[in-house]
Amino acid sequence: MILSDSVVTLRPLSFSDKFRLVEIANNKNISDNLRDGFPNPYTLANAESFIANVSKADPPEVFAIVWNGEYVGNIGLHKGTDVYRKSAEVGYFLGEPYWNKGIMPRAVNLICEYGFRELDIVRIHAGIFEFNPSSMRVLEKCGFRREAIFKNAVFKNGKICDEYRYVKLLDEQNGNN
Ligand SMILES: CC(C)(COP(=O)(O)OP(=O)(O)OC[C@H]1O[C@@H](n2cnc3c(N)ncnc32)[C@H](O)[C@@H]1OP(=O)(O)O)[C@@H](O)C(=O)NCCC(=O)NCCS
Repeated sequence: MILSDSVVTLRPLSFSDKFRLVEIANNKNISDNLRDGFPNPYTLANAESFIANVSKADPPEVFAIVWNGEYVGNIGLHKGTDVYRKSAEVGYFLGEPYWNKGIMPRAVNLICEYGFRELDIVRIHAGIFEFNPSSMRVLEKCGFRREAIFKNAVFKNGKICDEYRYVKLLDEQNGNN
């Protein structure tokens, strides 16, 4: 499964990505904005077990983001289960040298188009920590809207903070809103 626009390509991860994954992921400025399942330091063993885990999914849920021929980050679209099976959550990171170049909005647009087209979902959401305006901006540029603020929902690095929920609905993706 390859998803592409004129600038960014999303492709499944492979085991040969493991060294590069450590290089881009081993950064506290990234892990500070993600759940604790994304460790810091980020070791080769972490990269190996992550790739082994995500490689089991069919269709793939996590994609490598490729820009200018380089693997620069990850994006994932995870379907819910049970009554949440028509919803999915998007999550992502980019290596720090690649921030502020418009890469992630392209990746988010590609994965949302794919999800609504192929995964039989009606809703995609993301949860952003209150101190991450850059990620909120990415979602706003991709047509997401702020749906709710979950007060005190997150405990990160020893501090309680709010989670900002952003959402995009299938109707909105199709421009029917
Ligand atoms: C968040 C992240 C994905 C952004 O991706 P990106 O490709 O750099 O996004 P963009 O190129 O669109 O740039 C970010 C936007 O936020 C804006 N921005 C950056 N810092 C900002 C701040 N402090 N306040 C407000 N807006 C800010 C930029 O100006 C830009 O918007 P613009 O195009 O309107 O000028 C990337 O920084 C990242 O991977 N961060 C670490 C991991 C992370 O936070 N993941 C998301 C968890 S929810």
